[in-house]
Amino acid sequence: MAELAVRSAPVLTNEEVAPGLFKMVLKGTYSGKPAQFYMLRAWGLDPLLARPMSVFDRSEEWIAFLYRIRGRGTELLSQLHSGDRILLLGPLGNGWERRPGRVALIGGGSGVASLLHTAKVFGDVDLYLGFRNKPFLIDEFKQVAERLVVASETGEGGQRGLVSNIFDPSGYDACYACGPQAMLASLSRACKKAKVPLFVSLEERMACGIGACLGCAVRTTRGICRVCRDGPVFHAREVIWDG
Ligand SMILES: Cc1cc2nc3c(=O)[nH]c(=O)nc-3n(C[C@H](O)[C@H](O)[C@H](O)COP(=O)(O)OP(=O)(O)OC[C@H]3O[C@@H](n4cnc5c(N)ncnc54)[C@H](O)[C@@H]3O)c2cc1C
Ligand code: FES
Repeated sequence: MAELAVRSAPVLTNEEVAPGLFKMVLKGTYSGKPAQFYMLRAWGLDPLLARPMSVFDRSEEWIAFLYRIRGRGTELLSQLHSGDRILLLGPLGNGWERRPGRVALIGGGSGVASLLHTAKVFGDVDLYLGFRNKPFLIDEFKQVAERLVVASETGEGGQRGLVSNIFDPSGYDACYACGPQAMLASLSRACKKAKVPLFVSLEERMACGIGACLGCAVRTTRGICRVCRDGPVFHAREVIWDG
């Protein structure tokens, strides 16, 4: 926690890599375990709150975020140009620890953002990516996976269907997933049945990002937990899934 401070960084690049999806690279040296995140802001008082983004990739000289435009905050981020400055707080959250043995990473939609860095740090992983339609950044993901399985709801660029239906946990020693709640809940049931541990990274809406407001509370078997401080990573069996 000693290194936690808001810092200002220059944007190196901010490119639309697929419709509505941007990759932003910031100059500087940063830390960040797989599935840790930063709170980003590039505006004054409106919107009031910074926005959480997972570490997509990083090197000694830069850090990259991959984000989808959803509302005002991400729209403002997408308008930044090379040389503009942005404020960051992080790295935040607990992150993922690699377990020994055969490991699978499963991502859905913009939830794939945390998996590139994770695959690089973990090494020797199978990657399962799910998209609504045309898959994105497949060449980058191919380079970091032992095996890459791509699924899309339209069948474009991969197997047709939901990645949570295509993925079979048997034979794995541990699984790690990030994506929409319904996908995580479905994977949780499959992994429980196969008796394979699943670690999920939750993407609740956040306000402070540092555990002070309970804005990101989730129900778990341990009681109410804060996704920003107690997570974003939880063992799937401790999350109380809605529905
Ligand atoms: C730990 C963490 C890591 C994240 N990493 C990434 C990432 O790497 N890439 C990425 O694209 N997104 C990521 N997100 C989600 C991202 O933070 C939100 O999309 C962003 O805050 C939306 O801000 P906005 O101002 O554009 O939209 P807002 O105006 O705040 O919201 C627009 C719409 O999106 C919905 N929305 C906002 N946040 C979320 C959310 N967390 N989950 C579901 N719906 C939401 C709102 O309900 C609303 O309907 C992450 C979230 C968390 C908590
Ligand atoms: S966002 Fe404030 S406690 Fe998590």
